[in-house]
Amino acid sequence: MTTRSLQTVIPSTATSDGAGVKLRRSIGSRQGAWLDPFLMLDEFFSDNPADYLAGFPSHPHRGFETVTYMLDGHMLHEDHLGNRGDLQPGSVQWMTAGRGVIHSEMPQQAEGRMRGFQLWINLPASEKMKPASYRDIAPSEIPGVELAQGGRVKIIAGAIDIDGTRHVGPIHGLSTDPTYIDVSLPAGASFEQSIDSGYTVFVYPYEGSLQVGEKNLATQTVGVLGGGDRVSVSAAAEPARFILLAGKPLREPIVQYGPFVMNTRQEIEQAVRDYQSGALTR
Ligand code: CO
Repeated sequence: MTTRSLQTVIPSTATSDGAGVKLRRSIGSRQGAWLDPFLMLDEFFSDNPADYLAGFPSHPHRGFETVTYMLDGHMLHEDHLGNRGDLQPGSVQWMTAGRGVIHSEMPQQAEGRMRGFQLWINLPASEKMKPASYRDIAPSEIPGVELAQGGRVKIIAGAIDIDGTRHVGPIHGLSTDPTYIDVSLPAGASFEQSIDSGYTVFVYPYEGSLQVGEKNLATQTVGVLGGGDRVSVSAAAEPARFILLAGKPLREPIVQYGPFVMNTRQEIEQAVRDYQSGALTR
């Protein structure tokens, strides 16, 4: 077994999206800053309604999946297929845009904390034009496992082994084979997991910092892990909470134009034409 070391650090930077929602973007903060198969990671976290009230009014997507994980707050999702879901604290919305989705995500609160993540995962060329689909995952469908050293893991996608027992999340069987877990650790406690050596792996501490081998990974920073078949991280002097993502790289060309992610410029031009003519969602 080879433990993956901390290879690259991607700090998050403050930005805004939608109609002016303040967030921190790490992966995807500039064109080309992808981490195959992951295209973008946004963290939104604010106690100030002015930072989130404007929400994400109607907008399109084509060619990838969007995964929204709510930690605090409520958002209402509505799309052109008639799907409507109130995203509650601890819930996940897994949306496969495929050939096209037009949707909105609007906060359902006028005060209090709004906190969560939106992750974009690429689709292989062969699936970019498949029909759109959508799944609302309630907190009760997300397995939570207590760790022997204290702390807890929630498994949103993929499967993990804890003390010899396999735990499977509600999302599995996708081409990129994503693992998406949310881990909380007491100060000094460690978390280990074996992950396929060919997969891209990153961690993002959103409370406290992480120790990866000899290196410290600061809060709100993506830590890309290098080669190996095992992940081992520990909370530093404070308790830590982090998400860990792993996925199978697609190794295909990527051309992105805002909410459209395809393989060629021609396909992007087609997506823009389809959006303008209404064919995106037909
Ligand atoms: Co969207």
